[in-house]
Amino acid sequence: MTGGGSGLGRAICRRLAERGDHVVVADRDAPAAAATADDIVGGGGSAEPLVLDVVDTAAVEAAIAEVDARRPLGTVVNNAGIAATTPLLTTGIEEVDRIFAVNVRGAYVVLRAAARRMVPRGSGSIVNICSTSSFTASSSPMVAYDTSKAALRMMTAAAARELAPTGVRVNGVAPGTMDTPLMRGLLGEAGTAALSGSRIPAGRLGTTDEVAHAVAFLSSADASYVVGHVLVVDGGWLT
Ligand SMILES: NC(=O)c1ccc[n+]([C@@H]2O[C@H](COP(=O)([O-])OP(=O)(O)OC[C@H]3O[C@@H](n4cnc5c(N)ncnc54)[C@H](O)[C@@H]3O)[C@@H](O)[C@H]2O)c1
Repeated sequence: MTGGGSGLGRAICRRLAERGDHVVVADRDAPAAAATADDIVGGGGSAEPLVLDVVDTAAVEAAIAEVDARRPLGTVVNNAGIAATTPLLTTGIEEVDRIFAVNVRGAYVVLRAAARRMVPRGSGSIVNICSTSSFTASSSPMVAYDTSKAALRMMTAAAARELAPTGVRVNGVAPGTMDTPLMRGLLGEAGTAALSGSRIPAGRLGTTDEVAHAVAFLSSADASYVVGHVLVVDGGWLT
């Protein structure tokens, strides 16, 4: 589980632990990863923190190999992601590179490393946390982020197609506007309230648990014939 130290990632870790998974909480933020793991263990679940930056390819490959050798990977969630609202005309190319390095390249490296372990066993599930931005442009200026999440949606479909014959399933979840530190940072309180009232048919932001339930479903045996699907969890936003 990448980006497990905060927001959606923390909720997904908790949900997977509730169903009995041992959860490896990977995050580049060490205290955040430890806090999620402690929270799970304190609640009677099984978890361990792992300090990992998905931009570091060698570290990702080593960590996945080490974790898999101890306990075969069943589910891998590509959740680590970053965003920025900057107008196109003033966005520095370094910012575009940073967003793509985490949201696209990092996800690819994690997916590939996990698949290399799962394919020989003929089982495993990978879930990529996409976004409604994978389908439609954000109302805020977020060209680099939106483009990265559209790429992640296609990575989900293409990898799912290639890996399906091996028994490894790849799917995605596309959250709309969820109540997390990332989203509050982007929108602010006033923006959050305005958005909830005007653009979201359900009339509110989503909860992190609502995304976690979707991940739990896609990575369960209940979804054994669901391949390459990106499940939208957005309170009706895309309608
Ligand atoms: N919050 C939303 O409304 C929303 C909507 C759509 C999609 N998403 C996606 O969901 C995912 C999680 O978002 P969130 O709102 O929980 O964000 P968040 O900022 O609350 O948490 C992201 C976590 O990822 C970690 N992280 C960032 N870069 C990393 C890296 N290079 N390596 C390892 N860990 C890294 C951070 O330390 C943090 O703990 C992201 O991919 C985001 O794009 C969020």
